[in-house]
Order: sequence, then C-alpha cells, then structure tokens
Amino acid sequence: MKRQNSANATTTSPSKFFSNTSNQFSEILKQITQNSNNKPMRKACSPNSNNQMQKRVKTQITSISRNPNLNIHNKNISASVPKNKLEYYQVLEQIGSGKFGKVYKCLLNQTKKLYAIKMIDKLYLKKNQMLHQLHREVAIQQMLKHQNIIQLVEFFETTNNYCLVLEYATGGTLFQSLMKQNNRRYSEPAASNIIKQVACAIQQMQQQSIIHRDLKPENILWCNGQIKISDFGWSVQDKKERDTLCGTIDYLSPEMVFGQQYDNSIDLWSLGVLTFELTTGRTPFQVQEGFTLQFPDYLSGDVKDLMKGLLTDKKNRKSIEWVLNHVWLS
Ligand SMILES: Nc1ncnc2c1ncn2[C@@H]1O[C@H](COP(=O)(O)OP(=O)(O)O)[C@@H](O)[C@H]1O
Ligand SMILES: [Mg+2]
Repeated sequence: MKRQNSANATTTSPSKFFSNTSNQFSEILKQITQNSNNKPMRKACSPNSNNQMQKRVKTQITSISRNPNLNIHNKNISASVPKNKLEYYQVLEQIGSGKFGKVYKCLLNQTKKLYAIKMIDKLYLKKNQMLHQLHREVAIQQMLKHQNIIQLVEFFETTNNYCLVLEYATGGTLFQSLMKQNNRRYSEPAASNIIKQVACAIQQMQQQSIIHRDLKPENILWCNGQIKISDFGWSVQDKKERDTLCGTIDYLSPEMVFGQQYDNSIDLWSLGVLTFELTTGRTPFQVQEGFTLQFPDYLSGDVKDLMKGLLTDKKNRKSIEWVLNHVWLS
C-alpha cells in the first residue's frame, strides 16, 4: 500500500543519488513483495491534511537469500537447549506478537521479578526452515550486554515452543509511543535523545561485529525511560559483506534493495530513516518512487544535516562515530 506524502512536505533540498531508480526500483520491489508475506504489520498515521489514521502496510520481508542453499541450513538445536523451565514462571498477559510467535509478560515465581517471554512455535519455525535463524538470534543476543540493548536472560524449550526470557520493557515499543505524540512526531530534542541512545546501541553492536538488519520503531523499546534495542531475529555477526535480503521495506537501504553487497552501514541507513520518522511522523521514501530525500520546512538544519549524512549511498554514508559527535545529538 502506498504511503501518503505529508501535506507540508516541500521539495527544498532534494538529494537524488540514484538516477535509475523509478523503473528498476519498482521492479525490484514487485519481486520483493511477491516473495514476502505481505500482511499489514502496523497501523499508522500520515500527518496529512485531514489527519485521519491511514492504514499503513509494513511489509516484513521473509529472508530471501540469493544463495538458496543458505535457507536449508537447518540445525537441530534441541540437544543443547534446557527444558521444562517454564514452570518457574507465571505467564501473564500477551504484550506482543511477531513473526513466529507471541510475547507475554511473565513473573519469575522465586523473585517476583517481571520479564518478557518470547514463545516461538516449534512447528511453525521448522516448517519455515528458520531454526538456524533462532539459533543466531539467541547466540547474538546472549553476547550483547549494554544499557541500550534488551538483555536475554535465559533460553529454554517446552514441548511446543522455544522460549526466550528477556528483560521486560515497561514502556512498550517506540512505535506505540510515537503514535501517541502530537501529529505522531517527536519534538527535535526528544527525538535527539532517542536517536542518541539507538546510536550508542549501534556502536556497541559494531564493536562486536553485529549487524541488526531490522532497526525500526517496533523493535525499539522503552524501559524505565531508557531506550533499548530488541528483536535480533535478523541479526548476524561477522565481518564479511553480505547480500541476503531481509528487513522491513520502509527501512531497507538502497544497496540491499539493488542486491549489492552490504555491511554494517545498513544499520546507519535505518538510523537515518528512524530519525526522519521520529521527527516527521512518516518514513522518507515511498516504496515505488525510489530514494529521493525531501524534508518538510519545519525541520532544523542540524537534523537535516544528520539525515543527509546517513540517507546517502553506502560509500558516502557517515560512520557511527560521526553520528555520535554530531551537533544535533549534543
Ligand atoms: N522485552 C520485551 N519487553 C516488552 N515487550 C516486548 C519485549 N520483547 C518484545 N516485546 C513485544 O513483542 C513484540 C514482538 O517481539 P519481537 O522480538 O519484535 O518479535 P518478532 O521477531 O516476531 O518481531 C514487540 O514489538 C513488542 O511489542
Ligand atoms: Mg520485531
């Protein structure tokens, strides 16, 4: 579904860095959406003139590897996974749902401490040949310990599910809180505070050679007033360049869309899209129209400068250190 442009968007500083976008881009996107489970992922609002809620389709792309053999790399992880630990918890209400299962609030009986438990349906996972992906999610999240990253507390299995026990984010997702803001956007100081914390998490991931590959407001949580990155379902850890297509359409970098090799700078592209969405209430690129960056008049020069440094082709994209030293984040 096509997203509407903001009524007060202007064409003051277009930066078109792909001349071939239109045809090639829409052809590629057609292929992507044919290969994806094209279900509405979230409702959102475009800050258009009549201010009505617009249904917005977020297409979560199922991993499409350009090397089909990678998709059948289907390890049996059961042998090493502890069992029967669910009895130590009291499972409370559902707080989220995702690709392969549901997320519940839960209480550890012994300490009465709250956690989130992500239950992933074994059958569904197996049917979709995604066991290796879960294996990776658990391995990567286990090694990440940072104040802006959700901590994985433990991992076990029951008869029907794999269970990830996670630090509980008390304040819900950034997407939920964005939708509650006036005009569905944050003031620049508030957005800057959020982006700085996401940037700190990205810096930590880069130091551990981790690419998240699905940064977006639904995967960023509020925990006691602090921002925490979550959902490492698409993340990878290594230094080599990659070409697997995955993520969410509005947040996909051009190099990923055009099937080129990519590296950890795709998370910086997503950070640019996130900055745009938090400060304007919409994402910058219309799926069928390519990567032409246009800013609304009300944005400051500083935030536009930050976004221009990120929403550009891979070779000119700035580093995480540049972001963290940027005046808009000071
Ligand atoms: N640690 C957590 N604390 C609170 N809510 C969470 C937590 N982890 C996930 N959720 C909720 O569950 C939803 C889906 O979880 P996520 O890990 O993103 O799964 P998926 O990989 O299926 O997208 C999130 O968007 C959020 O609403
Ligand atoms: Mg998610």
